[in-house]
Amino acid sequence: MKELLQRLTQAYGPSGSEDKVREIIKAELPGYETKTDALGNLIVEKKGSKNKIMFSAHMDEIGIIVTHIDKEGFLRFDFVGGVNPFHLPGERVEFKNGTLGVIGLEKLDKISDLTKANLYIDIGAENKEEAMKLVRVGDFASFTSPFIDLGNKVVSKAMDNRSACAVLIKLMQELPETQNHIVAVFTVQEEVGLRGARTAAFGVDPDYGIALDVTATGDTPKAMTMEVGLGKGAAIKVKDNSLLTHPYVKDKLIELAEQNNIPYQMEVLEFGGTDAGVIHLSRSGVPSGVISIPCRYLHGRSEMLDTRDLEAALALAKAFAKADLK
Ligand code: CO
Ligand code: ZN
Repeated sequence: MKELLQRLTQAYGPSGSEDKVREIIKAELPGYETKTDALGNLIVEKKGSKNKIMFSAHMDEIGIIVTHIDKEGFLRFDFVGGVNPFHLPGERVEFKNGTLGVIGLEKLDKISDLTKANLYIDIGAENKEEAMKLVRVGDFASFTSPFIDLGNKVVSKAMDNRSACAVLIKLMQELPETQNHIVAVFTVQEEVGLRGARTAAFGVDPDYGIALDVTATGDTPKAMTMEVGLGKGAAIKVKDNSLLTHPYVKDKLIELAEQNNIPYQMEVLEFGGTDAGVIHLSRSGVPSGVISIPCRYLHGRSEMLDTRDLEAALALAKAFAKADLK
């Protein structure tokens, strides 16, 4: 799992530019006929005669888009997804063509005044003309940060949400015998508003929806009050800003975790959302839930998770895939 996780997290894939991630996932699932839909969602299907379950994991990561190049060759940018400007000074970015840059900060009297307007990207160009040989207005970049292995804990950029992509790949590779019709959807553009999952859910038309995504934790010094912690198992979401988990799905996930001795914890997230937020509103409604992976330092360059929670999330996804559902 760690090797797969490393390859997935290190791949370039800000929202709208998920193709490199999609190629890695496709190559991991040679036994399936895969389909890429109009928006770029990758759909992997195992047919069955019983309930159709859509599992989704978004492929995109947060990033930036170039808005302006000045005559000295410095780039100004906007955020793609929920980027925190306080994370950025000194960070590095990578464009799709491999161009690298560092984020600089203008002189500021009070650091609390920092906004994206005070930040710029330096790609080492001497002037605008030279910069424009490498980068154009409208180009996207992702942040960079190496994968580090701390034993049970692992750290990288884009654990949100390549960790769940890894779980969904494993689910399809190790799919248990089941009469259920399983559709794995690796979605696009989650970080800019759950966009890929919306059209994918309409197309798939599932009986049940399960999103796989990371969630925040309350287990670091002076963290917000939150029950979820690293290493305590898969988190079963009850609520976030996009979803009230369908009670049947929530109870079934709890029951399956209990029956199969899968470590789990209950999650109430007081902000944010996942693909399940749009899947459950598709067509005339789809009972949906989320299997979450606890993750520290979300939307930073050093998102940390515990591989034992990944195993628990995988076990719970497998149990749901073969469950006898009403
Ligand atoms: Co995210
Ligand atoms: Zn996510």
